[in-house]
Amino acid sequence: MVLNKNTKNIYKIKNPMSEKSSLDSFVVLHTISKGEHAVVKLIEDSYGKKFAAKIFKAKSLALRALHMSLWESELKAYRNINTLWTLRVLASSSTGIYKKKSQKGEYSCFYMLFEYCPYGSLWDVVKLSPDEKILRFYFKQIIEGVEGLHSHGLTHLNFKLENVLIDENFGLRICGFSHSSFDTQEAPTYNGRLDYYKSPEIVKRKPYMKNKADLFAIGVMFFILLLQKPPFMRADLIDPYFKMMKAKNNEYWIRMKPKNLAVSSEYQKIINSMLGELENERLSIEEIKKHAWYNLEDPTREELREFFQKVREKAKIL
Ligand SMILES: Nc1ncnc2c1ncn2[C@@H]1O[C@H](COP(=O)(O)OP(=O)(O)OP(=O)(O)O)[C@@H](O)[C@H]1O
Ligand SMILES: [Mg+2]
Repeated sequence: MVLNKNTKNIYKIKNPMSEKSSLDSFVVLHTISKGEHAVVKLIEDSYGKKFAAKIFKAKSLALRALHMSLWESELKAYRNINTLWTLRVLASSSTGIYKKKSQKGEYSCFYMLFEYCPYGSLWDVVKLSPDEKILRFYFKQIIEGVEGLHSHGLTHLNFKLENVLIDENFGLRICGFSHSSFDTQEAPTYNGRLDYYKSPEIVKRKPYMKNKADLFAIGVMFFILLLQKPPFMRADLIDPYFKMMKAKNNEYWIRMKPKNLAVSSEYQKIINSMLGELENERLSIEEIKKHAWYNLEDPTREELREFFQKVREKAKIL
C-alpha cells in the first residue's frame, strides 16, 4: 500500500502516554507551582496514586551544576529531618527524564518525590478566617515542627505561609527547604531579597541568629492568619507600622484590627513578644510553649471537623 498524506493520518496510532507528559514512569497531571529554580508537578503512578515532584531541570551544563547543588542541599535537609510536621521525601533521582507531551522533546532532571498534600498551604487558610482556637491548633504544630528542626541543628530560613502545606489528614507539613542551613547560630549578613517575614537584624543587614529569624517569621505568619494582612511591610523603624507597633502598641492593634474581629489580649501579647525589635527581647521556643495564649483552650473535634470541611471545599475536593 502506498501511503499518501491522508492515509498516513488514518494509520497514525495515538499513543495515550504521549498525550500527557511523563517523569520516568509517572504520568504528569499538571503543574502545581513554578519557582525560581524548580517546578512542582502533580504526578501519578500506574496505580493512580498521586505524588508531588519537585523538579530541577538539567538542560545546559551551567544549569545542571547549579540545579544539582540546589537539589542536593535541599534533599539533604529533607533526609536529615523527620519530624511529624515536615513534608516527607519518598524518593529522589539525579537521572530523571522528563518527556513532554505529544513527543515535543525531553530533558534530564533532578527531582524529589513527595507525599501529595491536596489542600494547598496555610496561604489558602487565610481566606477561611480561622478563629484563635483553630490557629492554636496550627500554631502548636508549627512550633513543634520548628523545635524538631532546630533540635536536629537545622534552620529553615524561609518560613512563610506558602511553605506550610496541608496534608491529606489536615495536618501541617513544612516544605520549601531551599534556604535551610545546618546551623542554628549566628549567620553573616543576609544579601537576599527582603520581605515582611524578615527579622529587623536581617533587614538591617547585620549578622543574625538563624533560629531567632525562624521564630520571627512564624510570628508574622500567625499575624497574617488572623488579621488577613501583614503586620508591616518591613521590620524596620522607618516603616510606620513597625514603628507604631513598637511605640504605641494599643493604638497599633486598634488600628490594625478589623472592626468585626475580636483579638484576644493574650494573642496580641504572644505576637508582640515574637516580633520584638531585638533578638533577646523575643520569646524562645520554651517560652512560647509556656505562654498563656499557647495554653488556652484547643478546638473541639466538632470545631475541627467543621473547619476541615471549609478547607476541603476551598480545595474543591468534595
Ligand atoms: N508535596 C506537595 N504537595 C502539594 N503541593 C506541593 C507539594 N510540594 C510543594 N507543593 C506546592 O509547590 C509550591 C512550591 O514548593 P516549594 O516551596 O518546595 O518550592 P519553591 O517555593 O520553589 O522553593 P522554596 O520555598 O524552597 O524557595 C508550594 O508552595 C506548594 O504550593
Ligand atoms: Mg516555597
